[in-house]
Amino acid sequence: MDRRVFLKSATGTFCLAVADPVLRSVAAPAIPSNAVPLLFGVDYYPDQTEESLWEQDARMMAEFGVTNVRIAEFAWSFMEPAEGKYDFAWLHKSVDILRAQKMAVILGTPSAAPPPWLSQKYPEVLMVNDHGMTVSPEGRRFTCPSNKLYRQLSVAMATGMAKSFASTPGVIGWQIDNEYTLQTFGRCYCNSCRAGFQEWLRARYGSLDALNKTWGTAFWSQVYTDFSQVPVPLPSGGPPNPGMALDYYRYQSHANVASLEEQLIVLRKLCPNHFITTNNVPLLADTVNAYDLFAKVDFVSYDNYPGFASIHAQGGDSGTSLPLDLIASTIALMHDASRSIKGGKPFLVMEEQSGKAGQPTFSPQPDKGQLKLWSYQAVAHGAMGINYFRWDTARFGAEEYWHGLLNHDRAKSPGYGEVAQTIQELKGLGPVALNSSYRADVALCFDYDADWATAIQPGQPKVKYGTEVSLWYGSLWGGHIGVDIVDATQNLSRYKVLFAPLLYVVSERQARTIRDFVGNGGVFVTGFRLGAKDSGSQIVNLPLPGLLRDVMGVTLVDYVPIYSEKQGVKFSSLLSGPDAECHIWADVLKPESAGVLATYTMGDYAGQAAITKNGFGKGSAFYLGARLDPADLGRVLNIIAASAGVKPALQAASGVEVATRRAGESSWTFVLNHTSRPQSVTLEKAYKEQISGGTVSGTITLEPYGVRVLT
Ligand code: GLA
Ligand code: ZN
Repeated sequence: MDRRVFLKSATGTFCLAVADPVLRSVAAPAIPSNAVPLLFGVDYYPDQTEESLWEQDARMMAEFGVTNVRIAEFAWSFMEPAEGKYDFAWLHKSVDILRAQKMAVILGTPSAAPPPWLSQKYPEVLMVNDHGMTVSPEGRRFTCPSNKLYRQLSVAMATGMAKSFASTPGVIGWQIDNEYTLQTFGRCYCNSCRAGFQEWLRARYGSLDALNKTWGTAFWSQVYTDFSQVPVPLPSGGPPNPGMALDYYRYQSHANVASLEEQLIVLRKLCPNHFITTNNVPLLADTVNAYDLFAKVDFVSYDNYPGFASIHAQGGDSGTSLPLDLIASTIALMHDASRSIKGGKPFLVMEEQSGKAGQPTFSPQPDKGQLKLWSYQAVAHGAMGINYFRWDTARFGAEEYWHGLLNHDRAKSPGYGEVAQTIQELKGLGPVALNSSYRADVALCFDYDADWATAIQPGQPKVKYGTEVSLWYGSLWGGHIGVDIVDATQNLSRYKVLFAPLLYVVSERQARTIRDFVGNGGVFVTGFRLGAKDSGSQIVNLPLPGLLRDVMGVTLVDYVPIYSEKQGVKFSSLLSGPDAECHIWADVLKPESAGVLATYTMGDYAGQAAITKNGFGKGSAFYLGARLDPADLGRVLNIIAASAGVKPALQAASGVEVATRRAGESSWTFVLNHTSRPQSVTLEKAYKEQISGGTVSGTITLEPYGVRVLT
């Protein structure tokens, strides 16, 4: 089967023919004999492991129950010890040893961390950070995404690997680079990027007139008379031109995507029988547009570290922690994004936490049951496989604290048995379940222009796009409603409701899409700052909410950043309930054709509309002008969803997640207890429970972090 057929096939990943009889024989029982192994594996570092241990490792992995490994993504030093002098003999040896134990191999190209000889010889490849400082070639991800020389060297390296491993038995696929968005400095501001930006602008605008007009360079005497004058947004005597800054964020994303695609071209050509992916954290690690990054690879891969979320959730020095629900729902959001970015295609968790995680500090030790829970959570949201990070635990280097399945002394980690059992259970679900689809009735918009433009000009320092999206997602998650992530440029007719918080930039295409969606019967729910800017990053020359004013049936009276003062909100009709507080932002609405569902209660705008609902065509549009606290937001969004006919798969307590995957007539409903307490769930009918094999009905009790898969 060639790549084209692989991509077309709904069950592509599992039905990719494998010529290798050794690997074919490791297919789980339910898989047709011509299928690749189910993708349950580990991330492994033969380059960091004494060769004398490779065989033992491979044997132990086989015993452990995994069937693939991802290797080599940080091994450039060993694969090209001096410029043009490749050495793949050691890697072939490692692949052969792994294959002898029936491990399939995903190879990583190593462009995330070039060796010291390279940065010494070509210091111009180093990234320059947003303060104009050249980044030291010490950690990883310290190179410039646009630097032509670095990109050539990376492609040469990938070409060398591809040639050497194209027909090596055991190798099944590739990971290009490693986590394009996770680095200390997200964007580069070097001279190469400046030249690349100018070139990109020339292609985008065609003429300087168009650029000057779009950016409004009349302001502060910034009129460019030659593309070579265009700067990058480094510190200056005032904030940058917002149009320039937004284009620069777009350009940096483009540069990263283009560098991935250069490697993709050679891998496609030289390894037509291998799958190709890249691993990343989409949406909230937001320097590269994930829709673009994954556009041409075969499937999305995502690195999942709930423990990392816990470290960040501690709120730094403040000692306060985020609610558990927010951590669990943020991870769920990443999974839903990973599935949605390629239109619902199952994704691979390329790295999954398997113990305490951390670089200079440790995340908490996962409680008993949490590692299993997080694996099931990934599968519940559309993962087709999971690689655990990492097999062993490094005794040296920046991640000595990042615990794998073996401890520093190679004894089994506290989570080893739990993960081994989880893998067996998940394999038992079989390829049909693991490759089934996830049907969501509602979509949540994540738009990179709105995200980046808000980061450039938040309006009120606490306004953050990622936070708003996470809070809206968390509200729906808490209501046990399945959600797809969209950018609101595609056909939305399969959804009952589109939620779109903080859609600060609205493109003409999005406006058309949303207008059609509502006109044809969809429900559009949006929030403050809707449509304030156009795609060029200018404030729209229209009464707000700009292009969508007729759909929303309101005109903004005023938009109000809120600092120490507060606003009250009083609900009526559909949303009736206790009064709420509005912090951070209030859009004050004047209904034109819309009805009022909530009003402000204080100050100059007391009595004016805070939330409205408008009938438009066959659908309706809700405007949440008030920025509500999470509990009130959750109540409001779930009432609106219910009013649009969206039903949760099951009724369950807060902290219990419910997600359903479907294939034809079959469905798998995952019930996941994210709390450390037992939780009861009442079922409306009898189900078969996949893990125990029994039948369940009535009220079932999930143990702390307990999981059930109901069919
Ligand atoms: C990331 C990277 C890995 C490793 C792990 C743990 O996801 O891809 O190389 O650094 O995190 O830190
Ligand atoms: Zn650069």
